[in-house]
Amino acid sequence: MCGIIGYIGERPACEVIVRGLKRLEYRGYDSAGIVTEENGELFIRKGAGRIDELTGKLGFLEMPGKRGIGHTRWATHGVPNDINAHPQRDCTGKIALVHNGIIENFAEIKEELLSKGHRFESDTDTEVIAHLIEEELKSSESFEEAMRRALLRLKGSFALGIIYTGEPDRLYFVRNESPLVLGIGDGENFAASDVPAFLEYTNRAIFLDDREYAVVTKDSYVVKNLDTGETVEKPIHEIEWTLEMAEKAGFPHFMLKEIYEQPRAIRDAIHGNADVIRTVAEEIAKYEKIFIVAMGTSYHAGLVGKYLFQRLAKRVPVVEDASEFRYEFDDLVDEDSLVIAITQSGETADTLAAMKLAKRKGAKVLAIVNVVGSMATRIADLTLYTHAGPEIGVAATKTYTTQLTVLTMLAIELARVLGTADESYLNALEEGLNAIPELVESVLKHDESLRELAESLVDRRDFFYIGRGISVPTALEGALKLKEISYIHAEGLSAGELKHGPLALLEDGVPVVAIAPSGRTFDKMVGNMEESRARGAFVISLGDRGELKRLSDVLIEMPETDELLTPILYAVPLQLIAYHLAVLRGNDPDKPRNLAKSVTVE
Ligand code: BG6
Repeated sequence: MCGIIGYIGERPACEVIVRGLKRLEYRGYDSAGIVTEENGELFIRKGAGRIDELTGKLGFLEMPGKRGIGHTRWATHGVPNDINAHPQRDCTGKIALVHNGIIENFAEIKEELLSKGHRFESDTDTEVIAHLIEEELKSSESFEEAMRRALLRLKGSFALGIIYTGEPDRLYFVRNESPLVLGIGDGENFAASDVPAFLEYTNRAIFLDDREYAVVTKDSYVVKNLDTGETVEKPIHEIEWTLEMAEKAGFPHFMLKEIYEQPRAIRDAIHGNADVIRTVAEEIAKYEKIFIVAMGTSYHAGLVGKYLFQRLAKRVPVVEDASEFRYEFDDLVDEDSLVIAITQSGETADTLAAMKLAKRKGAKVLAIVNVVGSMATRIADLTLYTHAGPEIGVAATKTYTTQLTVLTMLAIELARVLGTADESYLNALEEGLNAIPELVESVLKHDESLRELAESLVDRRDFFYIGRGISVPTALEGALKLKEISYIHAEGLSAGELKHGPLALLEDGVPVVAIAPSGRTFDKMVGNMEESRARGAFVISLGDRGELKRLSDVLIEMPETDELLTPILYAVPLQLIAYHLAVLRGNDPDKPRNLAKSVTVE
């Protein structure tokens, strides 16, 4: 995710843009930049760093002009640095633009443009768009026509703000799968990724839909369909939110907003890795000795990865808590080893230490990371990004389900390279993965009933989460979510373990959350649920089989999907149960006591 803000009117554009970027920092903050225009000349100032720092260092507030566009970046292609910051521009310097999203086919377009003599400055997918418009302008009647023709060639997600010196009275804004909203003022107009950026100036908003673009002057706007070029009538909404509510898009907490972002985040994780996953799978295929290292929720993602690798690629990774690996595995990892480090922040001290140990021993290191340019990406030989966007809530949600998405894509591709699974099954699994975002949307509709369930459980003191096979890490993650934000003690375990101790703790009313999707051990789960209920436990089950009704006090009905995809889908109700219990107990789920978003010290 990145933040875009554009302005055209009578004010100094730079002032409006800097204030707007500050309101959008939650969308990304590794670099930022501004372009303004005066007397037919573009002024661009940009760099790596936070808005406040750059405003002083680069003099954002000294930039001339009454129209301009700003961008705060969350890098997806190209590490955060001055050159890769937006705006990006064409060869002539007459076109500048900012972008939020991921262009899947930028590499082939870049090749084509390079062969036509275009010179690129950055490693970003974004810059390609500016040069493509420049190229199309050579054979178009108007800038708008050139822009449309260029954009129709793009695959992927793009919200754009575009400025062209040849047309001093307007700005262009485009939306495709990344949000963009117009702010309608009086003698001035705005556009931004999100309402907070201009809410202090106007609360009249027009929400663009996918494949629409707007041509905006200080006194007018017109919205058109990108594919047909036809004008589209759009309603103006009066926004009633306070600024603080707007930053959370109306959600009471960032964590809930991030839970609801998961369909988009999972789509971005799929789009963002579609063109690299094969190469990485080929790079790691020769390693039989595989270690997965991570902490916290990322460690649970690693455990899911283990089941995926076992079931699809017939490889058995050793999954280890990085704080243990770094001290216990120094004579076990060597140049024949592959070490996969999973870390959303890319800065967790124990995980970085484990990676450095692996490097010292000559192992191949693959990092699965959310933050582009973080330390983990600089230590690793290979990096796969989760493209979840910034996660503000301390408890991982969308970064977890996107980690699982990337691991699933990698295990499928590795199985293809190794020939260890039936191609038609792998294709079906891939289709199932592509359908997960919609299934998550349907699960999110349970939110209110999950809040009511949480209300009925608010005084419980202990929870048990049980599962079998690939649902064991789901059980562990469900328990961790509850512990870290509601402060209720919870334990995740393999259902088979119940008999070997924990069953002694079950008594009247103790909640047992049974993760019971259809799968090879469903019948065994039935037995575990029966033995739990026989001891008075309050059994809450998640599954897609109707017979669970008679086995449970509460059944959370889940859509059918391949068992290997259930860790992604089933994480969502578990996140919501933990979130609602935290709120009902008066906690701030975004900032749980004693915890940090990233533990950068031992
Ligand atoms: C903890 C976070 O501090 O670190 C967890 O609260 C996270 O949500 C864990 O899973 C590991 O962090 P990372 O950035 O290495 O995935």
